Amino acid sequence: MKNKETRYQELLTEVEGLVTGENDEIANMANIAAAIYAKFGFHWVGFYRVVGEELVLGPFQGPVACTRIAFGRGVCGTAWKEARTLIVPDVDQFPGHIACSALSRSEIVIPIARAGAVVAELDIDSAERDTFDAVDEVWLTRILAAAYK
Ligand code: SME
Repeated sequence: MKNKETRYQELLTEVEGLVTGENDEIANMANIAAAIYAKFGFHWVGFYRVVGEELVLGPFQGPVACTRIAFGRGVCGTAWKEARTLIVPDVDQFPGHIACSALSRSEIVIPIARAGAVVAELDIDSAERDTFDAVDEVWLTRILAAAYK
């Protein structure tokens, strides 16, 4: 299998092609989630949007998920509160982790900010422990930057 960096490079090129000329955020979230999911086969890939005081489920691929998450709750709510990427190698060790799916074992959540405020997040869950590292963070951040200029 190709190494992770090569696959992310291909994914970035693909995402750039998908979002170029399209400014509808939901459409772009839908295609980005589908592209990541198809490339890596993660358990769950999707977006949450900040709507008022909560995160609300956006476009995703994978099993059904929690619809609303409060500020500061679980991995997603904490990443929003702290406005930083969270990599969780073992979700069972994360206090307050929200188990949308009992099969999730590790997770990465990357906030998307606009004018200094978090407006959405990309959340990826893996069915295996310790799936995500700094390489995933760097490339997924680049992929989001391509869509959120
Ligand atoms: N596990 C996340 C909830 C979202 S789902 O996994 C899709 C959390 O603790 O925030």
